[in-house]
Amino acid sequence: MNDAKKAAGEQAAELVRTGMRVGLGTGSTTAYALRAIGRRIRESSLHVMGVPTSFASERLARECGIPLTTLDDIDELDLALDGADEVSPDLDLIKGRGGAHTREKVVAAQARRFIVLTDPSKDVDRLGAKRVLPVEVLPMATGPVLRTLSGLGADASLRMGREKDGPVVTDQGFWLIDAQFDGGIDDPAHVDRTLRDTPGVLDHGLFLDMATDVFVGHPDGSVEHRQRDE
Ligand code: 5RP
Repeated sequence: MNDAKKAAGEQAAELVRTGMRVGLGTGSTTAYALRAIGRRIRESSLHVMGVPTSFASERLARECGIPLTTLDDIDELDLALDGADEVSPDLDLIKGRGGAHTREKVVAAQARRFIVLTDPSKDVDRLGAKRVLPVEVLPMATGPVLRTLSGLGADASLRMGREKDGPVVTDQGFWLIDAQFDGGIDDPAHVDRTLRDTPGVLDHGLFLDMATDVFVGHPDGSVEHRQRDE
């Protein structure tokens, strides 16, 4: 799928114009966009400012030579570019495989256009059909949030480190719970509301009514552009 991710990332990077303020998402697909923006800064005097969505995207942006700013210093982003784990036919998303969904949502919400970069493996008829829904929690709220997710019909567990003992700790110092919904999520809006109303949940990986555009890269290098109906 790397050719597909590269095609989506590089085509989306072409939307960036001089003077724009751009949200810089996290993940392997968006990394192709960040590298392409970096090349244009070096080779064709593109001037942009980026707001990173994670320590990972901040480090990659610095490596690519993309100047950075913060949401305290600017009041709006022209574009946010980011990947997704699942995309529904309505362009709703599950994000957060990389544990960056909380900052990704903050940044996407400040953007006039939220451009999502994917490949065909991310398409689902129903959110939660293929991937888990990540939920970022205050560590002491883990038990109550696990019980809330169980009440919503999910099989939920704490995400554990691979090369570090104990739970994965996010960029914010919180923990992650991964919720598996057998057969997908029946009512994403209800899950969204319930989790938002649960004390101790910082945020979760459902991005409903947020994506304005999805660029789906294909292995032959072609890119399909989908847009949300207004
Ligand atoms: C990180 C994310 C990523 O954007 C999502 O997991 C897609 O990643 P990739 O482009 O590597 O498939 O939400 O939290």
